[in-house]
Amino acid sequence: MTLSVGVIGTGVMGAEHVRILREETAGARVVAVCDADAGRARAVAGDGEAFTDPLALIHDHKVQAVVIASPDATHADLALACLAAGKPVLCEKPLAATADQALRVVQAEVQLGKRLVQVGYMRRFDPAYVEMLHVRQSGAIGEAVLLHNTHRNAAAPDWFTGAMAVTNSFVHEIDISRWLLDAEPVLARISAAPGGDPLMITLETDRGAVVSTEVYMNARYGYHVHAQLVGRDGTVEMAAPTVTLTNHASQHGHAWPENWVPRFRDAYRIQMNAWVRSIAEERPVGASAWDGYVATAIAEQVATALQTGNPVRLDFGQRPDLYL
Ligand code: NAI
Repeated sequence: MTLSVGVIGTGVMGAEHVRILREETAGARVVAVCDADAGRARAVAGDGEAFTDPLALIHDHKVQAVVIASPDATHADLALACLAAGKPVLCEKPLAATADQALRVVQAEVQLGKRLVQVGYMRRFDPAYVEMLHVRQSGAIGEAVLLHNTHRNAAAPDWFTGAMAVTNSFVHEIDISRWLLDAEPVLARISAAPGGDPLMITLETDRGAVVSTEVYMNARYGYHVHAQLVGRDGTVEMAAPTVTLTNHASQHGHAWPENWVPRFRDAYRIQMNAWVRSIAEERPVGASAWDGYVATAIAEQVATALQTGNPVRLDFGQRPDLYL
């Protein structure tokens, strides 16, 4: 069976998801795209239909499943519309712009009694993170006690406002740290360098591990994501994110990608294929709506701590049975 997918938002991520669906995904085809900018939608629509109204795409009878890649503030309402229509949805991170909105998505899914939402925390499909998880689970490095994350962008995207370094970027580390450590953060501390960039955020987990994350939105030299997991008996960390090394102009080394698209190309592709397969097999994979809610709830509380300068005890309630 071929899954007929509609993609909402055809900017950087949406256009990449359309390309992956067309060129690198088994069992799927793009039957519709939607963008508030009609020209942008038409440019990537190919032989699919181009919409400017996302609700019209969600309700279109051709569309069996939806990818949401429009701006953060649109995610929750569109995910709710997909749930109301009974259509599976891969929603880009974050699940919502606020914890309240994210919780509404969780509540609607719990009410439905069926998991239809996957949140695009694609690092869970990145080969390096997957290998780090396997090493921890094998017991080879002993009990995991520290996780050091580095998250550097060359420059913050144009549309970044307010606390988005936390609510849009750091959410990746919240999600991947919970997943890598199989633990829940319970306490957060945050400090900012002069000018507010970079940030240093520390989380303590309910298993006693400590997670440090540098979030640097304007690091200039390139896009650089790194993680090192420290255990009692050893460590495991990512190698340089390239497959080749260059000798040039008296230097030996690798180039840094400009942004997340080349760095996480494999992760986006593997995520999309896993999502399409999971719909056929009715077996959800990846980050759930609950995971999406927890990431946004923690980010919101960390953003508040940034204002007050005080450590914050994290609170996001009980995981509903649907997500156990
Ligand atoms: P973008 O600005 O390049 O694209 C967004 C597109 O959505 C634009 O073409 C805009 O015209 C369109 N749009 C705006 N409002 C709309 C509406 N109501 N209905 C339909 N289309 C609408 O942004 P980008 O970088 O593609 O980010 C999109 C989403 O993807 C964001 O939520 C962002 O957080 C997420 N993202 C995820 C990444 C990941 O690694 N998983 C990386 C980068 C972004």
